Amino acid sequence: MTNHVADNAPVAWEFFAGGGLAGLGLHGWRVGFANDLDPAKSRAFRSNHPDVPFHEGDVSALMPRDVPGRADLAWASSPCQDLSLAGARGGLAGRRSGAFWGFTDLMRALEAEGRGPDRIVVENVCGLLTSGGGADFAAVCAALAEGGRRVGALEIDAAHWLPQSRPRLFVVGVRGVAPPEVAEPVAPFHSSRLIAAHDRLPDAVKANWAWWALAAPPRRNLDLSGVLEPDDRVDWFPSDRTAAALALLSPLHRRRLEAERASGARRVAAGYRRVRIEEGVRTQRLELRFDGLAGCLRTPAGGSSRQIVAVVEGDRTRLRWLTPVEAARLMGVPDGYRLPASASAGLKLMGDAVAVPVVRALAEGLLRPGAGRRAAA
Ligand SMILES: C[S@@+](CC[C@H](N)C(=O)[O-])C[C@H]1O[C@@H](n2cnc3c(N)ncnc32)[C@H](O)[C@@H]1O
Repeated sequence: MTNHVADNAPVAWEFFAGGGLAGLGLHGWRVGFANDLDPAKSRAFRSNHPDVPFHEGDVSALMPRDVPGRADLAWASSPCQDLSLAGARGGLAGRRSGAFWGFTDLMRALEAEGRGPDRIVVENVCGLLTSGGGADFAAVCAALAEGGRRVGALEIDAAHWLPQSRPRLFVVGVRGVAPPEVAEPVAPFHSSRLIAAHDRLPDAVKANWAWWALAAPPRRNLDLSGVLEPDDRVDWFPSDRTAAALALLSPLHRRRLEAERASGARRVAAGYRRVRIEEGVRTQRLELRFDGLAGCLRTPAGGSSRQIVAVVEGDRTRLRWLTPVEAARLMGVPDGYRLPASASAGLKLMGDAVAVPVVRALAEGLLRPGAGRRAAA
């Protein structure tokens, strides 16, 4: 995964780096430093990016002396568990998502040394917009605005590029050469919930706000079937397990499956098992989607977080687990990427990661202008 770049390429630091997918999207940039706490993620990072200076450990323990040189950009995909709508929302005060403050303390210390990056991107789940009644989003915007950056955010679904529904929030702070912006929010990346969150911001935070202008890409030309491994290279569920899983379909999802069967053509779907409350009763369901997209990859924390692939050909329906290779493709990772040996580690790595083409679009559309001068100086 070596990224061959020019000597005067812009430089990025990658925090909460996981397997280094942000760096993969920063095409033409040099990653001058990366950090992650998790030993398995750190192994994956080092094995795919052997040339990048990497520090394994808590971001809160990093000192400016640990971070070499200067950078045009600090990228931070900070932990989302306490901000996720699916979890108990401790917000940025939560044990895991609170690691964000370790990152901002480091940025402040680097700024004091004259090494604060002009651009900072914080990626997180869209739950950041509402957690703490909007206070967490305001705090992130205020932290990025320190040092004179203007700050804006975009809600971007990886489904614009990849066959995976994966909406994520990107808060982008920039000073110096300004990226393109618009006077009023525009679709698709200034979503209604982002506009509502902006309305709730305190005036002092709004004063530094910018609606960054990022053009939507051309229509996606890859669907779920395009990322699947060949049928003869994957392990299919035995028939009793398939029948048990299909028995979890709700009447609506069963009708959809029947409609796909009736076409007689090969159709592929992906889906999760979910617990729904039906007439007051917790009921486990299998929910398959036939719209050419996979559901948002998650980190495996039990069977229901692993995605199922269904292949329907007339009367024959086969089911299996989504593989780590397929998960990597759903994140836009090239096939040459070295995945961990265990399937669960591979799925965890990808489920937590940032989609590569989204980073690339942000880098080219918003982050590249003016980058490369200061860091090279
Ligand atoms: C949402 S994931 C980001 C993954 C990464 N962007 C990628 O593409 O693979 C958050 C990462 O933060 C790391 N992390 C969590 N707490 C941390 C801390 N206190 N210091 C450093 N890294 C931490 C986790 O190990 C995880 O890899």
